[in-house]
Amino acid sequence: MSDAVSDDANRRDFLYVATGGVAAVGAVMAAWPLVHQMNPSADVRALATIEVDISQIEVGQSVTVKWQGKPVFIRRRTEEEIQTAEAVPMDELPDPQLDADRREKPEWLVMLGICTHLGCVPLGQAGDFGGWFCPCHGSHYDTSGRIRLGPAPKNLEIPPYEFVSDSVILIG
Ligand code: FES
Repeated sequence: MSDAVSDDANRRDFLYVATGGVAAVGAVMAAWPLVHQMNPSADVRALATIEVDISQIEVGQSVTVKWQGKPVFIRRRTEEEIQTAEAVPMDELPDPQLDADRREKPEWLVMLGICTHLGCVPLGQAGDFGGWFCPCHGSHYDTSGRIRLGPAPKNLEIPPYEFVSDSVILIG
């Protein structure tokens, strides 16, 4: 396999399915049947939050996970991508937002994979700004997921999330 093909394979997005959360919620519900009656169904609760193991994601790689039926991009950014995102002047941004306000840790970018124009799923490592590109109508997002060019009015949305540990993110 050539280096170019190998790089391409490394950069491909992967889809993880969070089944662990469903099992955990099921166990809690069995122990508390009365509470169950007053709360949303197990299915709804399982979808409300997911835990994602990010320990296998290498620098420069992205994964896509599903949360509440929506794609969430988790990208482990390279140093160059971080520096590029941090260096952008605010007056060049249609929806001005500091990179620092869009992530908990510089290396990790977590955001909804839904174009803010009409809801297509943008492609990673694509577009004029090295971030994401939405092929539906040509919106370009930078390495911070901020809209730079095209019809999308807003930056890619950041979902609620937190680091449970260095290797696990809780989304939702
Ligand atoms: S939906 Fe993405 S550019 Fe229109």
